[in-house]
Amino acid sequence: MENLENNDKPKVTLDFVELWGPRPTSIFNVIIDKERIGQCQVRHTPGKSERMPEGFENHIYIEIDPEFRNQGFATQTLGLALEEAKKIGLREVIVTVDLSNKASIKIIERNNGILLEEKPDKQGNLVRKYKIAL
Ligand SMILES: CC(C)(COP(=O)(O)OP(=O)(O)OC[C@H]1O[C@@H](n2cnc3c(N)ncnc32)[C@H](O)[C@@H]1OP(=O)(O)O)[C@@H](O)C(=O)NCCC(=O)NCCS
Repeated sequence: MENLENNDKPKVTLDFVELWGPRPTSIFNVIIDKERIGQCQVRHTPGKSERMPEGFENHIYIEIDPEFRNQGFATQTLGLALEEAKKIGLREVIVTVDLSNKASIKIIERNNGILLEEKPDKQGNLVRKYKIAL
């Protein structure tokens, strides 16, 4: 009998779009069966949005289109983004997340994220900082 294990799970690939911005960021489309289902950014040096507390500069951002969520695609995407981070010479990445973003916390912890810190952002909402060794 042929082994059909995992054959029913679509595989995510990352399609490089461009190297963007003064702080170099690799931008990728997230692809399933030739269809774009989201985007992924890997910063070569960490950066942060205004609202994030000091020390919460991070490397990776992932967004999956709403109709494709909760099928494991972001979990796969983060794994691939970590490989890309390794290719650009990083030894570890920092990922930050709102405590309320349970889906994102799940994908980070499934990809071996180690919780370093939890702090309020500038609006008083708790945010978490994780490290992932590469
Ligand atoms: C966060 C995001 C990337 C996750 O994408 P995704 O493809 O749905 O993620 P996955 O399917 O790989 O994993 C999500 C997991 O969280 C779970 N989940 C989703 N919503 C949840 C909730 N409110 N509470 C608890 N768990 C939740 C899902 O059930 C799934 O777990 P399971 O596989 O055990 O069922 C997506 O929601 C998104 O694009 N959000 C907007 C942008 C964003 O917040 N990006 C992250 C910035 S740090």
